[in-house]
Amino acid sequence: MQIADRPPPLKVDKLSVNRSGQLVLEDVCLTINRGEFVGLVGPNGGGKTTFLLTILGLLKSKSGSIELYGHRKAPNSILRKLGWVSQHASNIPRNIKITVKELVQLGTLNSNNMFWRFSTEQNQQVSKAIELAGLKSVENKNISNLSGGQRQRAVIARALASNAEFILLDEPLVGIDRDSRNSLLKFLDKLCHEAQKTILMVSHDIAAIQQSSHRMIFLEEKIRYDGAADCFPDLAVLANLRGIKPVHEHNDPLENLYQLENMGEKE
Ligand SMILES: Nc1ncnc2c1ncn2[C@@H]1O[C@H](COP(=O)(O)OP(=O)(O)O)[C@@H](O)[C@H]1O
Ligand SMILES: [Mg+2]
Repeated sequence: MQIADRPPPLKVDKLSVNRSGQLVLEDVCLTINRGEFVGLVGPNGGGKTTFLLTILGLLKSKSGSIELYGHRKAPNSILRKLGWVSQHASNIPRNIKITVKELVQLGTLNSNNMFWRFSTEQNQQVSKAIELAGLKSVENKNISNLSGGQRQRAVIARALASNAEFILLDEPLVGIDRDSRNSLLKFLDKLCHEAQKTILMVSHDIAAIQQSSHRMIFLEEKIRYDGAADCFPDLAVLANLRGIKPVHEHNDPLENLYQLENMGEKE
């Protein structure tokens, strides 16, 4: 899928990150190619949000490197290719009266056009993003009247309106019902297949990610698994990869019985 002469959206090499003096990410290496839909999973506190914030340049690394589209120090033209949907992005306070279209329009603002009317090009970007997100019929509705899934799609549409090519999402499935979750995942898949977007999505919903992403990464300080979603390890293999040792040494009931009998003899 990667066009040979184009650098990948993300290349991370031997990345380590400290937070409050504690090592949170260690020796993370990965490359994400254009058009990939990557699910980033892992336990609470495993470093998923830290990883996204470091990619976005909001946290400093201790060592290692991050390249965005081939640039270590990405210029603004490259940073504009990134779209960021933070963990609580769709929790827009109910007292803010804003329509879907207005919210998406915000995605096209930058320091150069902030005080001008929306140009034809901006309006086209907004319409296209709303269309892609399947929100045309509700574009003039107040955000607070939408379902959780529609609100989530609206904040993604805001990122798309800025022409983002590489979209990073932190826990977008939290707090939305099953149907909304499914339509959101379908939408993200469509963005990769039909619009050649690249997606890195954090979620603790392993089952949902496995059903929708192409590739899964399990992060717990280090990368414990990186491969096809279809081959994601089962719980026992995963525990082993995470370095979790079985607590119950004697699982054989006959063996346990034998031990109990022996204990009785000794007494
Ligand atoms: N603002 C912060 N200051 C210091 N440590 C933090 C901060 N946020 C998170 N951490 C620590 O960094 C580690 C990784 O957290 P995080 O990246 O939020 O994990 P995840 O998103 O996988 O749940 C945890 O040990 C957490 O306690
Ligand atoms: Mg997190």
